Amino acid sequence: MRRLLVVAGARPNYVKVAPLVDAWRQLAGAAPLLVNTGQHYDDAMADVFFRDLGLPEPDRDLGVGSGTHAVQTARMMTAFEAVCLELRPGLVVVVGDVNSTLAAALVAAKLTIPLAHVEAGLRSFDRTMPEEVNRVVTDQLADLLFTPSRDAGENLAREGIPPGRVHFVGNVMIDTLERCRPRATFDRVRDRFPVEERTYALLTLHRPANVDRLEALSGIAEAIRKVAGVMPVIFPVHPRTRGRLAEFGLGSWLEDVILTEPLGYLDFLALTAHARVVLTDSGGLQEETTALGVPCVTLRESTERPVTVTEGTNRLAGTGAAAILEGFHRALAATGPGRRPELWDGRAAGRIAAVLQRVLAER
Ligand code: UD1
Repeated sequence: MRRLLVVAGARPNYVKVAPLVDAWRQLAGAAPLLVNTGQHYDDAMADVFFRDLGLPEPDRDLGVGSGTHAVQTARMMTAFEAVCLELRPGLVVVVGDVNSTLAAALVAAKLTIPLAHVEAGLRSFDRTMPEEVNRVVTDQLADLLFTPSRDAGENLAREGIPPGRVHFVGNVMIDTLERCRPRATFDRVRDRFPVEERTYALLTLHRPANVDRLEALSGIAEAIRKVAGVMPVIFPVHPRTRGRLAEFGLGSWLEDVILTEPLGYLDFLALTAHARVVLTDSGGLQEETTALGVPCVTLRESTERPVTVTEGTNRLAGTGAAAILEGFHRALAATGPGRRPELWDGRAAGRIAAVLQRVLAER
């Protein structure tokens, strides 16, 4: 049987491929080939995830680094094409919606290597988000589409994807969360942050639409300053955001918040699981807070993960200062942890591996 090849390259990818690698190892008796594109390369953005999640050394590291979208995607395609020609995988698996996902999908499709997309079908319906472009194109190219929620399947049907290609399997991020939760105790982080459990807000911010525009970033900053007057705010700062804050001279609002470098998976999960509320523009964190029952205020106008709003603990606040504050106070007043979406049960990767094994064996 030809080998399975799994691609990762940016922080959220590692969280999604870890359970797939494990499930494949259990089912097939050997790890899949693992290719790391190197879209993220700092220890805090990449290496710590390999350690925390027990990921094996990648079989190939493409080392592409940062660049404009075209430059980064092109570099990844050139390097990944060479890897595919050398290793001749029987099936390529991509996850999520980052540039690494798109680049590998295009290469596999052009080499006519069967392609599987994990976390298929999510749509924000906002094509100004680079991730939305990556999702739409990847799903059009994929032969197998693994969806985390029923709305994702509906989106794919509307776009004309044949239903036989689509498998509703649940959410692999929650597999990782469940596996790591026992290690993500508050004791991991207690000494580093002067806060008590359930008394602080956790903030993350990195979307270009929020941090690359002075108007959006200053509105968010105004709201966060007020939140920090109510409870301590812990803010692990993404490298993109750090750069923009310095560029716009907005560093002073950070005096009110507890700053830290980006954190590894386990430390960050420990902070999330014990927060009173999370404020974020991340996609994955909307899902993790829903699974953990922690209130989440999303600093965006749209979400590609609507079940976190309709069933979970998420509320969309946009980026205006008044709306963020209102969302924050509503989140504090909310009762009950919400519902866990269907099949977010920690076993999604096993379902995916079973389908992949069948398809690989048939070819
Ligand atoms: C990328 C993904 C986004 C994901 C996010 C998670 C795309 C289009 N975007 O955004 O969907 O939510 O990762 O973090 O793929 N940098 C470093 N060190 C690193 C990596 C990046 O300093 O290890 C800096 C560089 O200045 C770089 C900038 O961050 O230019 C942005 O990195 P990039 O990978 O282009 O996009 P992200 O904003 O991280």
